[in-house]
Amino acid sequence: MLSEKLRKIINEQINKEFYSSYLYLAMAAHFDANALPGFASWMKAQAAEEWTHGMKFYEYLYEVSSYAELAAIAAPPVKYGTPEEIFKTVLDHEREVTASIKGIYDLAKAENDPKTELMLHWFINEQVEEEKNAQDILDKLKMTGGNAFGIMFLDQHVLGARKAD
Ligand code: FEO
Repeated sequence: MLSEKLRKIINEQINKEFYSSYLYLAMAAHFDANALPGFASWMKAQAAEEWTHGMKFYEYLYEVSSYAELAAIAAPPVKYGTPEEIFKTVLDHEREVTASIKGIYDLAKAENDPKTELMLHWFINEQVEEEKNAQDILDKLKMTGGNAFGIMFLDQHVLGARKAD
């Protein structure tokens, strides 16, 4: 049986994952409005992936005979800066998610709940990848120095080449 504290914090994480999905969709909308379809498509794939993260936590609650309580999802920002600024925001956001998952992990350990700890291993590994992906794109954007041709190259050949997971 899941403790009340863990149930609450996992429900909060579901909200954070769905917010991440919404945030990346808002970034996709920005790129679609600014003639960068490759960046938009990368963000849409990321938004879909975040939705599956939220659902993984949701399903876990029912696996351990607990339950989900869905709260309102906050509105993401409407205005965004340059692609480089956006990916800096993505990296910062993913670092916050990593810290948040570590918080759940610490609680599961403190409560001696090995099943929840084990479930979180997947997310801990996933966050390594999420931060690396954001960092790699940010590094490439820095290389362009804001040059439009460089950004268009990344749009078409790097971000636009991402396959849906
Ligand atoms: Fe669900 Fe991007 O972490």
